Amino acid sequence: MKTTLTIIPHAISAGLLLMTFAAFAQPRPIDGRPDPIRPGPNPPQQPIPAAGQLGGPLLNLTPAQLADFLAGREEFANVETPASGLGPIFNNVSCAACHFVPATGGASEIFVTRFGRVVNGQFDPLTEKGGSLLQQFAINPAAREIIPREANVIARRQTTPLFGLGLLEAIPDAVIAQNALRPNPDGIKGRAAVVPDVVSGQMRIGRFGWKAQQATLLAFAGDAYLNEMGITSRFFPHENAPNGNTNLLARFDVFADPEDEIDPQTGTGDIDLAANFMRLLAPPPRGPSTASGRAGEPIFGQIGCALCHLPAMFSGPNSIAALSQKRVDLYSDLLLHDMGSLGDGIGQGAAGPREMKTAPLWGLRASAPYLHDGRAGTIEDAIRLHDGEGARSRDRFLRLPPGERRQLLDFLNSL
Ligand code: HEC
Ligand code: HEC
Repeated sequence: MKTTLTIIPHAISAGLLLMTFAAFAQPRPIDGRPDPIRPGPNPPQQPIPAAGQLGGPLLNLTPAQLADFLAGREEFANVETPASGLGPIFNNVSCAACHFVPATGGASEIFVTRFGRVVNGQFDPLTEKGGSLLQQFAINPAAREIIPREANVIARRQTTPLFGLGLLEAIPDAVIAQNALRPNPDGIKGRAAVVPDVVSGQMRIGRFGWKAQQATLLAFAGDAYLNEMGITSRFFPHENAPNGNTNLLARFDVFADPEDEIDPQTGTGDIDLAANFMRLLAPPPRGPSTASGRAGEPIFGQIGCALCHLPAMFSGPNSIAALSQKRVDLYSDLLLHDMGSLGDGIGQGAAGPREMKTAPLWGLRASAPYLHDGRAGTIEDAIRLHDGEGARSRDRFLRLPPGERRQLLDFLNSL
């Protein structure tokens, strides 16, 4: 929200709010861990990469689409403050403050924390205590969230890169559903994550997030504006109460909701701008091809990686020509799999505590560390940590002679 100072209904000036925010810019550690996030200042605005490169727009956009990309990129990096609606509780001050490696729209080692309670195998997100996502910061220390005593599961989720997400969005639900019907030699039984989509009001197949919890980029943008920055919008009109405490919310939520205002001229808000940027981001370009990497490609299929990391799917017809009926080399079936000990213990959307969405492998060389909580420093470690439905192909990887293992890793590094 860029309009400031106009809709503060209480006798609190924006200046005072800014002061309390500044006073709180030094976060305290939670759980004895050093705090991973320092809200603001934003990473410096990076130059715009060329079309088709990491962080650049899709190739062959029209001038109007390119203008949407640029306006969206600006909003994506726009720093929110208490005077523009940030908070009362939040995790960071802009989308780009978490998504910036190696370019605006990328990943980072910044993680968010989820918590909940598992009793008799049932996951309870502790909604009444502000779960399952922790908001680590507040515009006033009195509103700051803690992990409630009741929680017996705490999980970290690493920031994912957003390159090529428009192509993922353009894959028809039926194509993803089809993947679940493939033969499953290794006891692999992926299933589509059917989730409510706030944008269409329909049940759709989720594909975004570690748990495939959202189906569309606009829904994810609205979700992130609310849950990462405390900015309400037409799809997510209710502010999060700090640890569920509605008195604290009433005290510190001084803006009328929804905070993301619709521009009367364009009919769109900030969530639409951010969604446009993500939709028009180019997919990661393939890295240099080497003889060793080319030799690794068939091994990827032979040891069963491709059963989940499906090399490609096709997008359906789309009003944006650059997204229409394209081959999408994502290396994922976009299905949920029971990953055993690799699961994060959190139930979310359609995914159970042990289920994770097959992570796309395109752009792998630029997104270390790996796995949902960043526990793997290298691609090899990420493979070793596969469990559950991924255990058999992991074991075949471990049995590969060193030369073939090297070839497979060279292949993965070229994606
Ligand atoms: C505090 C850091 C942080 C901020 C701020 C943030 N994100 Fe994220 N983002 C994450 C993390 C962590 C994930 C993985 C979340 C998950 O699946 O649990 C993620 C995932 C996503 C995804 C899914 C990507 C995929 O590969 O499926 C989208 C889309 C996204 N963010 C968009 C946004 C937008 C738009 C904004 C700004 C409104 C934003 N994010 C702000 C940390 C952040
Ligand atoms: C049963 C399905 C399945 C199979 C088989 C499988 N994977 Fe995965 N893979 C996943 C899932 C699910 C994740 C995400 C897990 C997480 O982060 O908790 C993942 C994550 C990864 C990652 C980390 C990606 C990132 O961005 O963090 C790599 C690398 C990877 N897999 C490579 C492989 C290789 C190589 C093989 C074959 C030896 C393989 N996988 C077999 C399902 C599978």
